[in-house]
Amino acid sequence: MSKRIILIGYMGAGKSTLGKSLAAQLGFPFIDSDFEIEKKFGKSISTIFAEKGEVGFRELETQFIQNLSDSTSFVLSTGGGLPCFNGNLLILNSLGYTFYLKNESKVLAERILNSTIERPIVKGKSFAELVDFIEENLKEREAFYLKSNYTLTPEEQTVEYIIETLNLKK
Ligand code: S3P
Repeated sequence: MSKRIILIGYMGAGKSTLGKSLAAQLGFPFIDSDFEIEKKFGKSISTIFAEKGEVGFRELETQFIQNLSDSTSFVLSTGGGLPCFNGNLLILNSLGYTFYLKNESKVLAERILNSTIERPIVKGKSFAELVDFIEENLKEREAFYLKSNYTLTPEEQTVEYIIETLNLKK
């Protein structure tokens, strides 16, 4: 039977890092929504935002998850905003097991600032501005994130914990 594991959460939550390890451990393909969208259009997320605006980018995210085959096993990491628009969280919940990687705003802000990934939504913000922005933004986004099947604390955000939760031990 196919198993599909979907990691969601704010920018800097560690979705791609954990997703890659989990996929490797399970022998499943790893899919990253941002990477797939960049590959399909041959443009970076920043360029897509600049050309189509956020609304245009959100449409591409919805198209992307609508076109995911539901007949195979995979581990999917989604862009931070993806679950929060166009009813996408319901689509994700119908595709597989969703896990919200919950983290504190300060931890997220630090990781975002230390990362080389370009993130148009938070570009140019100082640490203090970023923490405020994340706290406000999470008030809206958690209404969606918390509807995932599982919410993981930082300690629970491990390959072993997810494998045990889903009883996937070989
Ligand atoms: C976004 C998160 C990014 C990317 C885009 C918008 C968001 O993905 O999809 O920059 O709105 O939270 P990551 O969560 O992988 O950084």
